[in-house]
Amino acid sequence: MDKKKRGGFSSSIGFVLAAAGSAVGVGNIWRFPYLAAKDGGGLFLLLYLILVLTFGFTLLTTDIALGRRTKKNALKAFGAIREKWKFLGYLTFLVPALIMTYYSVIGGWVTKYIVVYLTGGSRAAAEDGYFTSFITSEVSPVFFMLVFLALTSFVVYCGVEKGIERFSKLIMPGLIFLIIGIALFSLTLSYTDENGVTRTGLQGAAVYILPSFDGITFRRFLGILLDAMSQLFFSLSVSMGIMITYGSYVKDDVNLSRSVGQIEIFDTGVAFLAGLMIIPAVFVFSGTEGMASGPSLMFVSLPKVFVEMGAAGTVIGFVFFVMVAFAALTSCISIMETLVANCMELFGQTRKRMSMVIGGIYAVAAAIICLGYSIFYFELPLPNGQTAQLLDLMDYISNSFLMPFISFLTCIFIGWIVKPQWIIDEMESSGHTFGRKGLYAFMIRYIAPVMMGVLFLQSTGLLS
Ligand code: PFF
Repeated sequence: MDKKKRGGFSSSIGFVLAAAGSAVGVGNIWRFPYLAAKDGGGLFLLLYLILVLTFGFTLLTTDIALGRRTKKNALKAFGAIREKWKFLGYLTFLVPALIMTYYSVIGGWVTKYIVVYLTGGSRAAAEDGYFTSFITSEVSPVFFMLVFLALTSFVVYCGVEKGIERFSKLIMPGLIFLIIGIALFSLTLSYTDENGVTRTGLQGAAVYILPSFDGITFRRFLGILLDAMSQLFFSLSVSMGIMITYGSYVKDDVNLSRSVGQIEIFDTGVAFLAGLMIIPAVFVFSGTEGMASGPSLMFVSLPKVFVEMGAAGTVIGFVFFVMVAFAALTSCISIMETLVANCMELFGQTRKRMSMVIGGIYAVAAAIICLGYSIFYFELPLPNGQTAQLLDLMDYISNSFLMPFISFLTCIFIGWIVKPQWIIDEMESSGHTFGRKGLYAFMIRYIAPVMMGVLFLQSTGLLS
């Protein structure tokens, strides 16, 4: 396909913001803070940072350089290098195909909360059972998911430069301002509970940032490490073909090494700030017990915090959920773009037609996932000991199972068959230096495959 037909980013900053838009999503704002709260705050932060600069950097560099060098989507990129490795492209394609089934469902939940705050329902949202009764109903979650999916499809339908790049350039800087604003506000909070105990935002920030080694055993340390690692995949959108697709849209003269660094900083910075806005606020109003609420932190604990804030809480709650919706939207767009781009290449169809077909297919698939909490409810024990409904099952197959497996194979492929120099050449092809190339070559050959293998075995329950 020629350049015109493929579409592409017009500028380096447009690419970085679109890639950051893909990376920054509910993973940063919802998943990262609750993992940090659960895993001893500062210790998790420290480990995560080290992993981003080593693993994250390695996997992100591989995906982006692979895309730009082959100028192909994941489906064809691997086969274009070595025919025998074509299967890896298909395997990679499966991940966004699965994630798309439930990401728009979560996007729908966030959209629902925007409407709730807009229509003065902040008190109701803070009541026990509100979230559960919403997701277990049969119509409302499907309706909001469809609204979210329609928006996503529209941007993808508009194309790379006019849709994705323009939208990301508008949204991402605004997102940063909002997060910094709410994080600063969170630090100024203070509350005295019915027992007369006063807790402040600054104390909450200390709980979040200072490493706690209380009760740390080797086993627990390993658990935290694995949590941080799986968060990293999801958060950076690596090993799922997305960054390969976006890489294929980047012009040859762009300094990829610098772009990778910027994406790492953007994604990690937003995750850190999201923790800084959520954890101190939850600590102030609900103490350390509130922080341990896990996945329900955003939909259950935070609405309680907003109510405690009084009138300002309604406005802040609204702004907060609008921001999360935008973050989720840019991520969902990247997932859908990958599916559309791959299918355009595969079936030789136009972007507009493929966007509509895929939008239609996912309207049905995501509706089924929505109903996984009502009509299709089940409790399935997973090999890693958790109990899953439909949404968790999709998440488990794509993130815990396929992603480490694909990363493992990619490391073997690039590290041992194609050889790291192939990627390094691409990173330096624009005439810029690739500062971390020694680290890259070492990571992709030795460290990354071992860790991916461990992560994969852990997800299958073979290693616990
Ligand atoms: N990286 C996004 C987040 O942190 O929410 C999520 C995501 C985007 C996952 C794209 C998967 C994906 F294909």
